[in-house]
Formats: sequence, structure tokens, C-alpha cells
Amino acid sequence: MQPQEDHPHVPGPSLWPVGFAVGVVVFMVGLIISWAIAGAGAIVALAFAFLWVRDLTAGTELAHTPEVAAEGPTAAADEDDAALEDESPDDAYSRSKFLEVSTLGLGAVIGGIVTVPALGFMIAPSFLKQGTKDHDIGPLSDYPEGKYVVATYMSDVTQGEVSRRTAYVRYNGPLDGQPSFTVISNHCAHLGCPVQPNGPLEESQKKQIGDVTLIPTISIAGFGCPCHGGQYDTEGNRTSGPPVRALDRYSFSIRNGHLHLGHAFSVSHVDGVGSSAKIHKWTQAFPGEPVSGLESWLYPIQPPH
Ligand code: FES
Repeated sequence: MQPQEDHPHVPGPSLWPVGFAVGVVVFMVGLIISWAIAGAGAIVALAFAFLWVRDLTAGTELAHTPEVAAEGPTAAADEDDAALEDESPDDAYSRSKFLEVSTLGLGAVIGGIVTVPALGFMIAPSFLKQGTKDHDIGPLSDYPEGKYVVATYMSDVTQGEVSRRTAYVRYNGPLDGQPSFTVISNHCAHLGCPVQPNGPLEESQKKQIGDVTLIPTISIAGFGCPCHGGQYDTEGNRTSGPPVRALDRYSFSIRNGHLHLGHAFSVSHVDGVGSSAKIHKWTQAFPGEPVSGLESWLYPIQPPH
């Protein structure tokens, strides 16, 4: 009886892992940029993963593939029968094969346990509608026409005062039979400092409605940033200083006679004033990022909000 030779399966050099890694990178970049790129990355990764696994398992399949001898089908069938009679469970699953498969499997399980939660925490927030809750900031009657009102509210009452946000709200009168508002964010478009109205507030007219505080302004000449001197006009257009675009705005809706703030969006500039203004809207960008023109190509594409 011949001692059984144990030939550990060692796959040859291959480019499939490189293709797989490229596919994974494209997939992850696509998750940030666009679903089409993510889909293409996933297809590339799966295709190369298939080829890689096929290469890894090719040795095993060959070892058990009966060779068709030149003598014809009968001789091959005889060899098959003999092989089946001689084959024991130890031949089919040799110790080296078992160790190889169990080591790879264990590594995959440990790798998954370590990386999946981390990836989830990194990627999932991009797809959660964070900060897009609707906020009721009081009845329309609290917004006099043509005057900015400083509205502060808690974006998440469960987090308390730390979630307090500020918007500058002006009622522009009716437009096509509907009330028209200008709702400007107080985040400076330079580095995000809170901009202030350039004018006095009517503190005596301050109103508190639940977590919402409303203070009308008397008359303002735009907005100013105390950090680096950025200045904006009354429509939020940058007039001087380091900001690279106009102030962000909020969408709004009116329900049951109350004004509701929606999602924030960025604005490159505004033409005109009040209800007839033409707002050049963009997906909300981080402070300091231009949203239009060649310069905007130098900054990362914003994930879906
Ligand atoms: S943060 Fe406003 S000017 Fe710099």
C-alpha cells in the first residue's frame, strides 16, 4: 500500500484580487457620489470575486475530475469506478484542505465582525435623513410683512438647548395667492460662525411659543459675521469678506396657518429681492465650499441629504 501523498493546494499568482479591490473602491466611492457608480463598482467586484474564487477552487475540482483516457468511454468509466471504490472520506477532504478552508472561513467571519459595524457607522449616516425634520416656528400672524424675525428653535427637543438653531425669516407678502417667505440660515458661508442681523432687535416684542423664540428686527442692513468680517445683503448675497457664496436658506411650507421649516439648501447667489427674487439653489454644501463655477469642482461631491 502506497503512503498517501498530501498536496496542499497553493493557488498561482493572479490579478483577480486586484480587480476585486478596485471594484470595492469604486463601489465605496459610488456610495458617496452616485448610485450608478456604486452599481458599476459592485458588478466589477462581484465579477472579479467570482474569478478569484474559481481560481482558488480550481485545484480541488481538477483533483476530482476524472480524466477521459484515450482508450474511450468504457476505460474511463472503469477508472471512475475504481477511483470511487478506493476513495475514502480522508481523500475527499484532506487535512490540509480542511485547514485551508477553515482558516479562510474563520478569517472571513472575524473580518466581517470587525469591519461591518465600522463600515455601517461610517456609511449609514449619509443615507439617514439627518436634520431634515420639519419644524413648526409659529403662526403666520407673528411675521409682519417686510421685516426680518429672528426665529430660534430646537432641532431636536430630546437633545435640549444644544440643538437650538436660528433662522432669519421675512414675510414678503403674497405671491400667486400664497404667502411668500425668505428664510435664511445664520451659518456663515465662510467657516460657519453665526451671522448677526446688522440692525437692532425689538426685544420688547419677543414671543415664546413652546421651544420657539421669535424676536422681530426693527430695520436691518443685511447680515454680518463677527468672526472674520463677512458681510451679506438682506437677501443673503455676499457683499464683502471671505465667504465664498450667499447664505444658505431653508425650504418652508404652511400648514394650519403655521410656518414650517424644511430642509436647508445652499445658494450661490440671489437675483432680485423679496417674493420676486430668483434663488440659485444647490445641494447644501459645507461652509467654505463654492457651489458654482470651476472652483466647486475642487471640493468633494456632497452625499445625498
Ligand atoms: S466665519 Fe464668517 S467670515 Fe469667517
